[in-house]
Order: sequence, then structure tokens, then C-alpha cells
Amino acid sequence: MELTENESVAAAAYAEKLFCQPCVFVKGVVDVTGLPGDGVAEVAFAGRSNVGKSSLLNALIGRTSLARTSNTPGRTRELNYFLLGEALHIVDMPGYGYARAPKTLVRGWNQLLQDYLRGRVELKRVFLLIDSRHGIKENDRPTMTLMDKAAVSYQLVLTKIDKLKPSEVGPAIAAATEGIKKHGAAYPEVIATSAEKKTGIEELRRAVGRAIG
Ligand code: GTP
Ligand code: MG
Repeated sequence: MELTENESVAAAAYAEKLFCQPCVFVKGVVDVTGLPGDGVAEVAFAGRSNVGKSSLLNALIGRTSLARTSNTPGRTRELNYFLLGEALHIVDMPGYGYARAPKTLVRGWNQLLQDYLRGRVELKRVFLLIDSRHGIKENDRPTMTLMDKAAVSYQLVLTKIDKLKPSEVGPAIAAATEGIKKHGAAYPEVIATSAEKKTGIEELRRAVGRAIG
């Protein structure tokens, strides 16, 4: 979706104001009964285990380690709520598709993800993170389909583009864009990011601003 010049200047200014506010950890939620009931709008970061959700959240809010990250998949085990300013929750979600996690844990996480994604009116947009080296995988599809069915607006974000050659970034974006064509609830633009090099962070901030604005 093309923005006019005025609209994009306004979006940039709004995002800048939004993200200069302090951000604090609120709580970890293990089942839907624990979800905040204060009506604050939220955006969430979802994706396969180890794709870089917590790292990108830190880059987004300009902090190094507010959300805990790890080399070991399965680091984030709860829906972790962060409050930016007074009017936005940012939710760091547990990853899916971690083959070596204990089955009982996996069942619990999947249930939580499903319950959360199906029925959360506060949820304005999900940023679905995809490792830019691997593209959309089969185990991303159930989450995408679930969000299509529940009409949850979501946007694909490629992560770790510092691991690609510059010439590989365009084709990775094109492949991801192609991969969401049949998904009704997916936002048509794909954002390419690196939490490590802080690439695409402004674009992501503007997308968050647009999602709640
Ligand atoms: P779970 O909570 O386990 O689902 O993982 P996650 O998706 O939150 O991933 P996390 O942010 O913990 O990062 C996983 C690994 O990827 C860590 O070793 C990070 O340092 C690394 N990583 C994250 N973002 C980037 C990036 O932009 N570039 C590079 N090169 N590595 C990254
Ligand atoms: Mg994490």
C-alpha cells in the first residue's frame, strides 16, 4: 500500500513519538485467563522458535535485553507482555516448531498460541517473523491459516538479513510476498530486518504505529 508523502511523514513522526516512550516488562502469561483485561491495544511477535522474536522486540524498543534471547530454541515460554508508554502492549510469544521441546510443553504452548490468536480483540496486528535464510516453512502455515480464519491482521517480517548477501535480500522479500498471496489476513508488504545491524527497525516502528493508529 503506497502512502502519500504527507502520510509517510506523519507516520514517521507518530512512530518516533511512540517509540521514544519508556517500555517496561508487565508480566508473563501462561494461559488466557491471565491476559490483561485493561483494554490496551497490542501487537504481537510470533514465529518459529529461534527466528529472532525477542531480539527484534529489543531492537524495536531500543533496548539490548529487556526481552530475554538465547541461542537455544525455546527460550520464551510465556506470552511476555511489555508496555510501551501507556497505550500499547507489545507481546513476545513463545516460538513454535521446536522439535526437541518436551511434548507436554509443546502442547501447552500450542494451546496458548491458538487460544490467544483466536480470540483477542485488543490484538491489532501480529508480526509473523520468518528467518530470511529459510523463508516460509511448512510449520508456519498452520499459524497463518489460523490467523486467516480468525481474521487477525498479520504482517510478515524477515529476520537476520545480515546473514544474507545484499543481492539475496530482494529475492527473499519477493519469495515471502509470493508466499502470502493466498492468505486473506496477511498484509501485503513484507519488512526485511536485522536486529543485529538494526536494519528495517524504522520501517517496523512505522508499521506498529499504523497498526494501532
Ligand atoms: P524463542 O524465544 O526460543 O522462540 O526464540 P526467539 O525467536 O525469541 O529468538 P531470539 O531472539 O532468542 O534469537 C535466537 C538467536 O538468533 C539468538 O542467538 C540471537 O542472537 C540470534 N539472532 C536474533 N536476531 C538476529 C539477527 O538479526 N541477526 C543475527 N545474525 N542473529 C540474530
Ligand atoms: Mg524469544
